[in-house]
Amino acid sequence: MPSIFVKFNQVIKGVCVIEIIDVVDTMKFRADQVRNMNQKIAFVPTMGFLHEGHLALLDKGKHIADHLVLSIFVNPTQFSQTEDYTIYPKNLEKDLSLAEQYGVDTVFTPDKETMYPSNYQSYVYLEHLPNFLCGRSRPTHFKGVTTIVTKLFNIVKPHYAIFGEKDYQQLAIIRHMVRDLNMDIQVIGLPIVREADGLAMSSRNSYLNPEQRKIACCLYQCITLAKKMVASGEKNASTIIETASNHIRSYIETRIDYLNISNTETLEDIKIIDQPALFALAVYVGKTRLIDNTILNPL
Ligand code: PAJ
Repeated sequence: MPSIFVKFNQVIKGVCVIEIIDVVDTMKFRADQVRNMNQKIAFVPTMGFLHEGHLALLDKGKHIADHLVLSIFVNPTQFSQTEDYTIYPKNLEKDLSLAEQYGVDTVFTPDKETMYPSNYQSYVYLEHLPNFLCGRSRPTHFKGVTTIVTKLFNIVKPHYAIFGEKDYQQLAIIRHMVRDLNMDIQVIGLPIVREADGLAMSSRNSYLNPEQRKIACCLYQCITLAKKMVASGEKNASTIIETASNHIRSYIETRIDYLNISNTETLEDIKIIDQPALFALAVYVGKTRLIDNTILNPL
């Protein structure tokens, strides 16, 4: 039997035990053990460098299930050659300490070779949802996401899987995949957690220098702007997009990847906002690509 590492923390909870597993068969074995005790497993998949957005997902998991699993794995297949895979921020020690504080029972932290051994050749992808929004500039990204999430689901065997609405398209794709492939998992989506000034929390915010960090607020300002316009009766998507684009362009160091108003289910572009619509944006601040979104509710 491969090793299960056990860490003790006597300060926080008396004796607090957290399992750290990096072997697939050990994680599967542990999941079976929990299921055989008739306990429910909640699962929060992440790429680590945890922040309050991730912690809100853990908090939910703790409340709805008996056993909480957190995965930390920077998934190479969801990054293109030119993206930030090699420099993606990491701090395993801090992540484990936060996991412990939030009552995580098991942390699954496999390495790249464990998840993608040599001659790996199986992928999961969806036909349509990945072609919009982020998929337009990151054409292979969601194939990597759906593949790793499927693999993690097969290994962790959760009853509940918890994701953030921060990655709205990712959540929509995973919900659809679970439905299409008859996976016996309840997907739960939670609202975006923001910094005090509105910036959506993200591990990638750590790339921003202090000046860029101030500029990054322009995404949330666009969301506020768009909501105000819709609240005062504006229904024309292109008018809102143009106003928001001009706002972004008024800041140096920004480059728009996309600003879109889309159908909340199909993610197709819409012209007239006559039902709740997704306003989603992706903007580079310096070299850092930031995303954000909100739902616009017409009068
Ligand atoms: P990662 O970016 O680490 O995010 C893990 C989860 O945290 C995702 O469900 C994401 O939507 C959620 N999240 C991130 N920032 C958030 C915020 N500010 N508020 C609420 N939730 C937030 O998303 C991934 O990793 C990967 O693609 C993954 C699903 C793990 C597959 O590799």
